Amino acid sequence: MAKIFLIGMMGVGKSHWAEKWARKLKTGHYDLDNLIENLEEKTIPEIFAEDGENYFRNTEAKILRWFGEKKSFVLATGGGAACFEKNMEWMNRNGITIWLDEPLGILVGRLKLGKENRPLIKNLSDRELHSFIENKLLERESFYRQAQYHLSGSEISNKSLEKILQENE
Ligand code: S3P
Repeated sequence: MAKIFLIGMMGVGKSHWAEKWARKLKTGHYDLDNLIENLEEKTIPEIFAEDGENYFRNTEAKILRWFGEKKSFVLATGGGAACFEKNMEWMNRNGITIWLDEPLGILVGRLKLGKENRPLIKNLSDRELHSFIENKLLERESFYRQAQYHLSGSEISNKSLEKILQENE
């Protein structure tokens, strides 16, 4: 049984790996953004537009804390989740935190195709997107660095997960 929180920038693949690793561990996978959308019965862009980012961050922090009670899961958090409401501290106390990280160029390339559902980047041109992500990374790195594990590029693999689990048995 493991309680795993995946953190890191938009576009890094947190949802993908949450699903893959949960299947491997035969446990549940969750996506914090999806849980927020289900609870609010609105999409993330609608929540940002109608209720504002502060409201979104409060809801995100509230739903995150549901995982204090759960015994086993892999949770993909949203890119900003680690950076608000003492969430990073809370995740470190309540499970294993893994920062998934990819080079800027890879993130930007993926996000060009995935802007629509992401209110923070929805209206940016490709050129603006590059500097936005670069700045966000700088701004957020000190939070992401607090994760117990940092996997970059090809280190994001089943093998790394196995090693992490062994260390936490
Ligand atoms: C955000 C990332 C999104 C989502 C929201 C805000 C952010 O999640 O929570 O649009 O602040 O980086 P993903 O990282 O799953 O795209």
